Amino acid sequence: MPSVLGKLVCVTGAGGFIASWLVKLLLEKGYTVRGTVRNPDDPKNSHLRELEGAKERLILCRADLNDYGSIREAINGCDGVFHTASPVTDDPEQMVEPAVNGAKNVIRAAAEAKVCRLVLTSSIGAVYMDPNRDPEQAVDESCWSDLEFCKNTKNWYCYGKAVSEQAAWDMANELGVDMVVINPVLVLGPLLQPTVNASVLHILKYLTGSAKTYANSIQGYVHVKDVALAQILLFETPSASGRYLCVESVIHRAEVVEVLAKFFPEYPIPTKCSDEKNPRKKPYKFSNQKLRELGLEFTPVKQCLYDTVKSLQEKGHIPIPKQNDEPEPEPVHIQS
Ligand SMILES: NC(=O)c1ccc[n+]([C@@H]2O[C@H](COP(=O)([O-])OP(=O)(O)OC[C@H]3O[C@@H](n4cnc5c(N)ncnc54)[C@H](OP(=O)(O)O)[C@@H]3O)[C@@H](O)[C@H]2O)c1
Repeated sequence: MPSVLGKLVCVTGAGGFIASWLVKLLLEKGYTVRGTVRNPDDPKNSHLRELEGAKERLILCRADLNDYGSIREAINGCDGVFHTASPVTDDPEQMVEPAVNGAKNVIRAAAEAKVCRLVLTSSIGAVYMDPNRDPEQAVDESCWSDLEFCKNTKNWYCYGKAVSEQAAWDMANELGVDMVVINPVLVLGPLLQPTVNASVLHILKYLTGSAKTYANSIQGYVHVKDVALAQILLFETPSASGRYLCVESVIHRAEVVEVLAKFFPEYPIPTKCSDEKNPRKKPYKFSNQKLRELGLEFTPVKQCLYDTVKSLQEKGHIPIPKQNDEPEPEPVHIQS
């Protein structure tokens, strides 16, 4: 890998959960980062200015996905682009158009700026929502969500991520942009930003008493630091191509609440499933081989859950129990 010193990269939606980690790791590696935010003066983005190296090598600029001029200005002169900004909502009006327009605007600007690579953050939502998928077949990068099924089930986030990824591939091919896509499952881990994002809310609801039961459903999980490391790996590995599924494990909610209750018994974690009639849903099979072959080591899901709760405590989103004697998970190797 040639030296990254002096390399200028753009990260869209820099203040978000995943992008904040990405900016942190890029700065630590010596990159100069142009981070786009919708409002640089909003205190919710101030954590970015506290990151190591930010004073010297982080430029925050105002950009909206729907405004091509602002995106072009942010990407102009960059060697690479990490497109992470996206609405994260199931409201079709807020989700679909900004996600698709955003991807198109970023790719057009990347083509104009002749960047060497664009890493686009898509989602498992663009991959696995297919009722006709053979349950015995592992979910991998060849799978695409069924758009009609997403629409009929009102999964507008998955629909939006699938159509925006498709539009991105079409446009990148047409304009000759070297694009690589990462498709993470639900992302957990320590928050750098002051607010709680949607994927961390998934865990917060089990700690506050707002969820009285857990659903009979399964979910894939991955650590936020692993996602950011993977995004950088995909940028720095010239041979990387196509899509990359980013998943450590797929488990049932029953296991999630069990792990949470073991580490943090002080919180009102639900013990009952909301569906006692149907058999327990089985996790789908998956392959994370493509990322492992690039050298990524995934943090175990127990550690993801532990780190998420510790971070929610540290940031003041949940009370810290008086007797803080929760058992620590077995030490695991987290890449630095
Ligand atoms: N977290 C997960 O579990 C997960 C899993 C798979 C894929 N992803 C994908 O990863 C990316 C980052 O997600 P995240 O979890 O880090 O979410 P997040 O914390 O909500 O961050 C999303 C970012 O996108 C920005 N954004 C939204 N609409 C925008 C617009 N119209 N113009 C400019 N910026 C806009 C937001 O800016 P504001 O702060 O101004 O709103 C925010 O910085 C997204 O593409 C998401 O689909 C996330």
